[in-house]
Amino acid sequence: MIRSVITGTGSALPANCVTNAELAERVDTSDDWIVERTGIRQRYIADEDEFTSTLATKAARAALEAAGIDASEIGLIVLATATPDHTFPATATQVQAALGCGGGIAFDVQAVCSGFLYALATADSMLRTGMAQKALVIGAETFSRILDWEDRTTCVLFGDGAGAVVLEAHDVAEDGPGILASRLHAEGAHKDMLYVDGGPSTTGTVGHLRMKGREVFRHAVVNLADVLKEVLADTDLNAGDIDWVVPHQANARILDATARKLDLPSEKVVVTVDRHANTSAASVPLALDTAVRDGRIKQGDLVMFEAMGGGFTWGASLARM
Ligand code: ACO
Repeated sequence: MIRSVITGTGSALPANCVTNAELAERVDTSDDWIVERTGIRQRYIADEDEFTSTLATKAARAALEAAGIDASEIGLIVLATATPDHTFPATATQVQAALGCGGGIAFDVQAVCSGFLYALATADSMLRTGMAQKALVIGAETFSRILDWEDRTTCVLFGDGAGAVVLEAHDVAEDGPGILASRLHAEGAHKDMLYVDGGPSTTGTVGHLRMKGREVFRHAVVNLADVLKEVLADTDLNAGDIDWVVPHQANARILDATARKLDLPSEKVVVTVDRHANTSAASVPLALDTAVRDGRIKQGDLVMFEAMGGGFTWGASLARM
């Protein structure tokens, strides 16, 4: 059977790391408050000459190297971002140009923090229907550009970065590698809980991120537990079979609460929120690449990806590496 197999991972972070203590010098907050409420200890913030496309391109190059393939073999680039370089063209096309692999398919997906899950499921469908053979699926963000640095309830939570995977259509056995199941959801009625108060069609400005944190927290725990159960039900596997959960890194308390709801031991959950903060669509592939490179996630492991974000949007995918 034809499945989409993850054959390489990569990631990129800006050079500039900002600790909670450094942030507390210009925002009315403290290391203690941020660590206790979120688990975040530091975040990376892009310099003026670092863009979503530059971070994405670095992550893509690392993923191509890990997969051992040349950029010229890539026929599809799906890039998830809510902070594109420009309103158009799609940032994916700029990554394609930087990699020198023009001619194939390249487009952006906008599902905020769930963007990588949406991009992965989209690329998986396109590979399995034969529209391309090899794809780059990228999550990349420069959220620092849409934060209101006067709003301590949001600006301490986010960071910049990018992660990428190479996805290849392979003919595999039933128990072989590849994406086994994916589920996606959206509920647009919850827009006001997490949104950006600008945009080309409304204010003509870029705008700033606004969030009702408590409400988001409550919905995230319920929606994530439900979608994980749905994905497992699509397969003949159960929670005990999962080797690793690679979740969206929003908040350590959301990760703990979701793991508890599924009875999953916290040692199986990859956590990078302490180092990267919330990098929106970049967080899942960044966390995946971290755990692949430090040797935790190995070939043959069963890995669950999950995320929830603005919209609301949420989703999960189960893959054998
Ligand atoms: N530093 C110090 N004090 C702060 C800060 C800060 N950075 N931010 C808020 N406070 C204060 C508030 O002013 C308030 O003070 P008061 O009691 O005197 O009024 C107090 O801390 C409590 O504020 P709450 O907003 O009620 O704090 P809460 O316990 O809900 O924690 C948080 C806030 C961390 C945002 C939490 O609601 C949360 O994690 N929500 C999930 C949201 C999330 O992670 N979103 C990411 C995007 S969506 C996604 O990725 C899933």
